Amino acid sequence: MNQQANVTSTAKTIHVALGERGYDIVIGAGLIAQAGAHLRAVLPRARAAIVTDENLAGLHLPALQEALAQEAIEATVITIPAGEASKSFERLQDVVGQLLDARLERNDVVIALGGGVVGDLAGFAAAITRRGMQLMQVPTSLLAQVDSSVGGKTGINAPQGKNLVGAFFQPRLVLADTDLLATLPRREFAAGYAEVVKYGLIDRPDFFTWLEDNREAVFAGGEASIHAVTECCQAKAAIIAADEREAGRRALLNLGHTFAHALEGACGYDAARLVHGEAVAIGLVLAHRFSAELGLAPHDDTERVQAHLSRAGLPVAISAIPGPPLAAAQLMHHIGQDKKVTSGRLTFVLTKGIGRAFIADDVDEGTVRQFLQHQLET
Ligand code: GLY
Repeated sequence: MNQQANVTSTAKTIHVALGERGYDIVIGAGLIAQAGAHLRAVLPRARAAIVTDENLAGLHLPALQEALAQEAIEATVITIPAGEASKSFERLQDVVGQLLDARLERNDVVIALGGGVVGDLAGFAAAITRRGMQLMQVPTSLLAQVDSSVGGKTGINAPQGKNLVGAFFQPRLVLADTDLLATLPRREFAAGYAEVVKYGLIDRPDFFTWLEDNREAVFAGGEASIHAVTECCQAKAAIIAADEREAGRRALLNLGHTFAHALEGACGYDAARLVHGEAVAIGLVLAHRFSAELGLAPHDDTERVQAHLSRAGLPVAISAIPGPPLAAAQLMHHIGQDKKVTSGRLTFVLTKGIGRAFIADDVDEGTVRQFLQHQLET
């Protein structure tokens, strides 16, 4: 464990047990004001580059700069345009160029202040600049706090598809300030909430029940949101410690994601129609229903999952996606491009019920097609 920084009384610390590459995730309200102290405890002499986007620069950057200045940490700022388009080779080259221009060294730190796009891009830039610098994640979205900032997946998109170029590169520290979630538009918070629910559905049925009872409190912020983020990070840290490079168990984190990626792809990644978390919400319902129709899980569990996500304001059926109707062939095309396909058999995360997800590597393509066809007709 790292030397303890001066943290708020409500802050929770979770250690990701990866030996020499292990790190802490610190979760709590108002943590950004202590970012300098936390960073100093881990990297006593590092200079820093903060990578953030144009929207967040106006929101949270001043607080982070002030916290670093209090510890006399020199920090250059690299601002990127907000949005998925920034996960590109061009933007990566630009960020790496700015890190080199600032003469930052391997022991200096890239601080990713943002959601999934900033975290993925800045993380990959840190992984490849000078063959690897230090990385600190300061996730600002719910999705980034419970998922993308933890576990070391970094990367950009290629013309051939999303997240196809990247590296596993673990941060030295993750600082999740739950106060930052208050500035999120409700749609974005709800989208992140789908990933929160996912952890309950994978292997934490008690957490799912807790969410059923405390959803409104989580959306309202405060202790309930700290508890929810902590529970998710604990769940993810345990999976990462067991399977860092997704040789097995880490694939459970893809529950609902095969359907979700197909839906996003079929919508042309048009955020006006569907954002990732919304696709995950529909995907989670589909994964439960598909499992139930295969006779693996109780139908009642699908109803529970659907009811909960729906109460959270998330779409729960393909028909809820605005715009031109989708076709089964389109969805199968995207599923077929998925990296988990082996000789006509699909790898899916299926479930035996709430909190009982498992990896199935021999799902018949025709059965999936039929299932989707039926979903599109109802
Ligand atoms: N978001 C899935 C993973 O980190 O493996």
